[in-house]
Amino acid sequence: MSKKICASDFGENFIWGVSTAAFQIEGAHDKHGKGPSIWDMFTLKKGKIHKNQTAKVSCDFYHRYKEDILLMKSMNIENFRFSIAWSRILPTGTGTINPDGINFYNNVIDFCLSLNITPWITLYHWDLPYELESKGGWTNRKILDWFTEFVEVCAKAFGDRVKHWMVLNEPMVFTGGGYFLGVHAPGKKRMKNFLPAVHHAQLSQAVGGRALRKLITDAKIGTTYSCSYIVPKNNSPKNLKTARKADALLNRLFIEPVLGLGYPMNDLPVLKRLAPYILPGDMEKSRFNFDFVGIQNYTREIIEHSYFVPYIGAKIIKAPKRNVRTTLMEWEVYPPSIYEMIRKYDAYSNMPDIIITENGAAFKDVFKKGKVKDKKRKKFLKDHLEQVLKAKNEGLNIHGYFVWTFTDNFEWAEGYNPGFGLVHVDFGTQKRTIKSSGRWYMKFLKN
Ligand code: NOJ
Repeated sequence: MSKKICASDFGENFIWGVSTAAFQIEGAHDKHGKGPSIWDMFTLKKGKIHKNQTAKVSCDFYHRYKEDILLMKSMNIENFRFSIAWSRILPTGTGTINPDGINFYNNVIDFCLSLNITPWITLYHWDLPYELESKGGWTNRKILDWFTEFVEVCAKAFGDRVKHWMVLNEPMVFTGGGYFLGVHAPGKKRMKNFLPAVHHAQLSQAVGGRALRKLITDAKIGTTYSCSYIVPKNNSPKNLKTARKADALLNRLFIEPVLGLGYPMNDLPVLKRLAPYILPGDMEKSRFNFDFVGIQNYTREIIEHSYFVPYIGAKIIKAPKRNVRTTLMEWEVYPPSIYEMIRKYDAYSNMPDIIITENGAAFKDVFKKGKVKDKKRKKFLKDHLEQVLKAKNEGLNIHGYFVWTFTDNFEWAEGYNPGFGLVHVDFGTQKRTIKSSGRWYMKFLKN
């Protein structure tokens, strides 16, 4: 039996929190002057989202933020990561500022601070103003100016009180899902969309970081990455090479230019096709000394070579085909992955502090006598935290951990089907019930 662990095992300064994102929790999709985002529009298209669900109401955090933040407080949670809906602040992406949007986030921030909860803001968690998408969205280089304007408005409005900022959330996922596979908003496909979106998102990490640093001199600035431990199916030279390609695409593409290492073109030659989008000076412009890097890990991937997958020739062998434990997302439960990812990022010579800005799981909840039992989630979190502790005890540069997520919410293309929350939400009545995993986290934090 594994021994009991608690927050104090990680030392006094370790940061503990929960993560959320505006589109997934806020609802109030057109309230008080908010403009539409690409996700508002994408969810209206038939067949894109599980059961054609939308996030028009979702957890209604817009109206219930006080209730939720009080609940957070009662669960001993001291750090709250949330994102700003760009089109709530600038309804058409640039130009006119919506005072009600500013007001809403001011209220959230002030309420957090009044309870001694530290707000952590993500600037971009995938909900681009729709108006900007009609001009090409991330494929248009002008996004660098549009994004800078948004960052500056937020920094000026909230920077006096908010000192922890993240520029982008998982650029690989929003460019890959939104501009190559078409399964996420805005639903575009093809390399001609993906490649410019990648380069502009990549550049906007440093561009956004610099805009924040100029306006909030005492801010801790980071950005976040999706990452998965990549394992070749076997050690054949072909599969080893293919796994390196997948690793370059999934784990290295966005961070290495920031660290001054350029794009990982040697391991992933198709990236040479980025050349037409890279203007003179861009690779210098990509560098930025972040104060921290957020890594977000959920699983590992087993990779094999395949002639049928264009451009990278790599295929993910899906977990359900491998006879392993999975979550409702069909992701393998493999806790050592988080340790391997901390080790991998720690190995970069100029790596800033690492924080796990997301980790968690979707499992089916069991209702018993008014209680929500989610043993599997509790075990998932505990097993992953043991791996984080192992990394910490080995002296790796790991400084914090945020659970994804606080309440069940809108899981993008999967709609409300897979709940990741520590707190159950009845979407019919908006009733919140702390799950047994939530009670466990609450005790874990207290001890
Ligand atoms: C990463 C994303 O940042 C978040 O929005 C999503 O809900 C979780 N992973 C779970 O898939």
